[in-house]
Amino acid sequence: TLVAAARGAGVGEADATPSGRTEPWPNDPYPAGSGVAERYATLRALLSGSLNADDVVAVLSESGLRGMGGAGFPTGKKWELVRAAEPGSIKYAVCNADESEPGTFKDRQIMADQPHLVLEGLLLGMAVVGAEQGWVFIRHEYGPEEQVLRAEITALREAGVIGADACGSGRRLELDVFVSPGGYILGEETALLECMEGHRGEPRNKPPFPGNYGLHGRPTLMNSVETFADVPVILQRGAQWWADQGEGQSVGWKFFAVSGHVENPGVYCVPMGTTVRSLIDLAGGVRGGAALAAVQPGGASSNFIGPDDLDLPLDFGPLAEAGTMLGSGALVVIAEGTDLLAAATNVLRFFRNESCGKCVPCRVGSTKAHELLRGVLASGSSSLDEAQRGRVLRLEEAMRKTSICGLGQVALGPVVSVLGLEKGGAAAREQPKPDGAAEQPAR
Ligand code: NAI
Ligand code: SF4
Repeated sequence: TLVAAARGAGVGEADATPSGRTEPWPNDPYPAGSGVAERYATLRALLSGSLNADDVVAVLSESGLRGMGGAGFPTGKKWELVRAAEPGSIKYAVCNADESEPGTFKDRQIMADQPHLVLEGLLLGMAVVGAEQGWVFIRHEYGPEEQVLRAEITALREAGVIGADACGSGRRLELDVFVSPGGYILGEETALLECMEGHRGEPRNKPPFPGNYGLHGRPTLMNSVETFADVPVILQRGAQWWADQGEGQSVGWKFFAVSGHVENPGVYCVPMGTTVRSLIDLAGGVRGGAALAAVQPGGASSNFIGPDDLDLPLDFGPLAEAGTMLGSGALVVIAEGTDLLAAATNVLRFFRNESCGKCVPCRVGSTKAHELLRGVLASGSSSLDEAQRGRVLRLEEAMRKTSICGLGQVALGPVVSVLGLEKGGAAAREQPKPDGAAEQPAR
């Protein structure tokens, strides 16, 4: 059942994971309690030549795996692009672990419980694209997870899995952890690269994408924690197995951080395509048995959906069609009795504070919109008159169309979706959404 899957029941008792968890997650192909010697089997196969890089890319493409950082770019395609870029030249790989979206904390759990999957995925990526050096760029508040990763890297080095002669293959594979100096915008992939190069952490214009022009101008493979962790699972168990795990048309397992007004906030691993309603039920339902007012299915940058949308499957396509997004896998639940405009204004305040200020529409637009909304709320109102509504919509359009990066493009989306909800449930779907937000919005 869904509950069994989410909690890993039926897999058997196991040693506690680094986070203290005693049941393995249902996706893990390695026996509970196994160490470096038993794990990293797919990497060993690739380095020994019994598995070839083209087959890895083919299996990933066939599996339908998409980027779990939020944008959903096809993983097989990304690996193929970086593999083909400047063959034989220096390349790099980076695991983006700068998880900072409000409501998002599932990558933290994955790193704590499955560092072996994250690092095996990163090493597989390095071997496939031809990179010798890889980093995990980690949020600075994630100290315990940083230690888990460093301990795993040390164990890999001592076992000869990485180093100058990785797995006896004659190939050099090195890993390190880069601790973010702090700041939400550094999770945007090009700001992250600027930061690693020692510059001010501001996004670059894209294209060129990091796959062609990344760290120090070299082709760089960058995926999020969950995406890299999915790779060895798929390669060990097969693309068909992965497809079979999803509900309906959806493929694979998906980690969600569930927070807000629920009885049991936490991280849940469920089949992709699980409905919003089922996931809320799994988290114990709305706190105190209250009625539900709204949900953000993909973290702070995703548009709010209403109680009429609870049967939506949690997957890229269905959520995009409903005017929101899967985003960073963070389901934020809001109970009736909460002022939705105040909640959305709070989200906007976050984006205004975190705007790097590089481009005018985001820097000025987020400030102006926040001032307007703060004024409305301070006057005791929780709705906008027509003139205010028009101003917010014009600011949203300007920011969406002209901001350099996803932060500015989606900053006003949640507010606009709340204005739609005010009109009544499904109206949120009529609201403009970021160009390409369906699959590739903010960072
Ligand atoms: P994006 O659409 O610009 O890119 C997605 C990925 O695909 C990037 O790695 C990009 O380099 C690659 N890509 C796209 N088109 C390409 C092409 N033609 N050739 C080669 N590579 C290509 O989206 P972005 O801005 O990187 O990510 C947006 C997502 O980040 C949002 O959906 C949001 O949910 C999520 N996000 C996650 C946060 C977190 O804490 N996990 C925080 C904030 C946002
Ligand atoms: Fe910086 Fe905002 Fe422009 Fe992004 S959109 S580059 S965060 S000012």
